Amino acid sequence: MDRGLYHRTAKNFARGRSERLSIAVALTFLIFTVPAFGQAILEGERFHPVTAQQGMVATSHTLATEVALEVFRNGGNAVDAAVTAGFALAVTQPRSGNIGGGGFMLIARGDGSEPEAIDYREKAPAAATATMFQDEAGNVVKDRSRFTHLAAGVPGTVAGLALALERHGTISLDQALAPAIKLAREGFIVPRRFTEGLEQARDRLGRWPASLKTFYKEDGSAWQPGERFRQPELAATLQRIADNGVSGFYQGKTAELIAGEMARHDGLITLEDLKNYQPVVRTPVHGTYRGYDIYSMSPPSSGGTHIVQILNILEGFPMAEFGHNSAAAIHHMAEAMKLAYADRSKYLGDTDYVEVPLQGLTSKGYAEELRKSIDPQKARPASDINPGQPAPWESPETTHFSVVDKWGNAVSNTYTINFSYGSGITVEGAGFLLNNEMDDFSAKPGVPNAYGLIGGEANKVEPGKRMLSSMSPTIVKKNGKNVLVTGSPGGSRIITTTLQVIMNVIDHGMNIQTAVSVPRIHHQWLPDEIRIEQGISPDTIRLLEQQGHKVVRNSAMGAIQSIMIGEDGTLYGGADPRRSTSSAMGY
Ligand code: DON
Repeated sequence: MDRGLYHRTAKNFARGRSERLSIAVALTFLIFTVPAFGQAILEGERFHPVTAQQGMVATSHTLATEVALEVFRNGGNAVDAAVTAGFALAVTQPRSGNIGGGGFMLIARGDGSEPEAIDYREKAPAAATATMFQDEAGNVVKDRSRFTHLAAGVPGTVAGLALALERHGTISLDQALAPAIKLAREGFIVPRRFTEGLEQARDRLGRWPASLKTFYKEDGSAWQPGERFRQPELAATLQRIADNGVSGFYQGKTAELIAGEMARHDGLITLEDLKNYQPVVRTPVHGTYRGYDIYSMSPPSSGGTHIVQILNILEGFPMAEFGHNSAAAIHHMAEAMKLAYADRSKYLGDTDYVEVPLQGLTSKGYAEELRKSIDPQKARPASDINPGQPAPWESPETTHFSVVDKWGNAVSNTYTINFSYGSGITVEGAGFLLNNEMDDFSAKPGVPNAYGLIGGEANKVEPGKRMLSSMSPTIVKKNGKNVLVTGSPGGSRIITTTLQVIMNVIDHGMNIQTAVSVPRIHHQWLPDEIRIEQGISPDTIRLLEQQGHKVVRNSAMGAIQSIMIGEDGTLYGGADPRRSTSSAMGY
């Protein structure tokens, strides 16, 4: 390890402990200058963030974190590092890292200029129709939007990452791709999580010869921990982007391979769809919470809108006084979450196609109105809740990584192919998986998607439209300065996961490693239940049940990779222990 480089993977706690010890010793003299904002490295804390001065990267895969740090060592900025990590994850973590999917990147420059969002969400192909996932009787056909070639939206990742680099980067696209190409060509040693993931996904991937050939050994078994896994076809696909820029993916050989794959299997994506794909620069949703400015993803994601809406509702309650994960806190959070997810079901969609009452949904006035409907003692059944009436219309396994550089530039990126390994379909000859993001549209108004989310007319399939997302890359500012960079995978739970990290820091004064580690809860209106992780006490559950809540134990929710920036510029990284390959490293 380089001098001055502190890192900790969630898996390697022993190494993490010794590093934490040395960090603590090294920083003892700094204790009195540590600013107040929950990020202090103080004796007595149970979880400790990684610290650094020059740059910080938090991703769900150590190899991606490492190549991004190398960009910092070579003088690159946060966008250079983020784009490099994005391409590397497409190689090292094929279950969610991707070039066959899409996502959102929030960028807040250190110069205090307004943050911007790059929307590179997938789009429905031109031949898509509102009823394409229904049979002749109008019933939704099981799995058609999930595991067939119709499930794939036109991928946006390559165009989105390239646009970010073009607008804010200092390195070239081929420089950003070089580490990914090397990892694909020369291979990398697979961690246990990689093997386990492929063993679990065998049924889905095994149906497609190209997926079998790309991700499994010749005898059909999964690559084992410690073995070297190479992806020559993916290396060649990435090389075509390095050689020809964005058109090396959206035109030419790769585009032909995608269109050929579609034509052979009744898919819809054509050469024209690929050529026409454009990412969009959007204005993030902005709200405030107890003096902090919250910037998060605008439609076609619902994430930012509902994070701001829920925070607005909760701002009127003494959340700090209730105490973290107390029954009172969970009750109020769940009630606010229900209201927001009910509104999501009706109002949210792609603002290029439908009008979304964004200002109304994120206004303090509407939140006040909703707040009044919350009984402090009693759960309101979801069946009593309907989408509200915000102010009038106005025109209008996913993975997250956060990056901050020494100039204070911050990048918060969430991208996905939807399910783990997306549709399970590998583009023959191109070595990458296609997303199954079309399932995020409403296959039919009122019929839930894979995450149990109900959507309406606003999110019906239309040609060229982007499907509604919950992805919530978020940047929090205080007095104009970036202070927190965060976001998570987790389908419908992305919104509530990200929300809780923001509240853990602002309401409960936690340092960032504690904020990402402590147990989380989730409510999404329907199904009418609070999902909890391990670690919420039986007494708390009993109190919630007495208030009328149904409480259900869930496995780990989300995988939030976060960075905080202290007043003195110190960077604090918090990797989510819920993913064994998560890592935050500083330089
Ligand atoms: O865009 C969305 O909201 C979903 N496609 C995200 C999927 C996801 O987070 C899966 N990972 N855990």
